[in-house]
Amino acid sequence: MHLAAFPGPGEADLVDALRRTARLTLSRVGEVDGAVVGHVALSPVTVAGATGGLGLAPVAVLPEHQGRGLGGALVVDALGAARAQGAAFVVLLGDPGWYARFGFRPASTWGLHDAWGGGDAFQAVQLQPGALDGARGVVAYDPAFDDLG
Ligand SMILES: CC(C)(COP(=O)(O)OP(=O)(O)OC[C@H]1O[C@@H](n2cnc3c(N)ncnc32)[C@H](O)[C@@H]1OP(=O)(O)O)[C@@H](O)C(=O)NCCC(=O)NCCS
Repeated sequence: MHLAAFPGPGEADLVDALRRTARLTLSRVGEVDGAVVGHVALSPVTVAGATGGLGLAPVAVLPEHQGRGLGGALVVDALGAARAQGAAFVVLLGDPGWYARFGFRPASTWGLHDAWGGGDAFQAVQLQPGALDGARGVVAYDPAFDDLG
């Protein structure tokens, strides 16, 4: 799935690595006629001053199924599942023009940054009111993300 959706193997390898280390907190697929056509993964992140954070990555839909609402449905489903599991907030790197519709705002709103200099592409959403009130600094992803090219 991820090999088909992304230009390189980095995201597929990342999912394998998170699975191997049991750090794939949430993993949801989208199906059409019984075949997997989309996938979203969430894994734990850490930051000073807040707990219960998850990083949403990767999310992908097979190219021939894109543009029909599947990607959006996967993000909404993942956020709902994360909230139901008691997660406090979710961060991601992505196009703000797409993710704003799901409630994401630039993480810098809360004084948060990513390690890759993503700027406004690094976004966050609170799943519990005030979850990020005391948070500050750089949000650390799982070490498996260090290998993402
Ligand atoms: C991003 C992705 C998951 C979206 O899946 P999808 O099923 O096409 O998404 P939806 O059909 O729910 O939404 C499509 C809408 O989002 C927009 N959109 C999709 N990807 C976008 C992006 N990277 N940047 C900005 N807008 C984007 C489309 O233009 C479309 O807009 P509209 O609703 O105003 O018409 C899919 O395009 C994909 O797999 N891309 C390759 C992998 C990737 O880049 N993943 C995201 C980074 S981890």
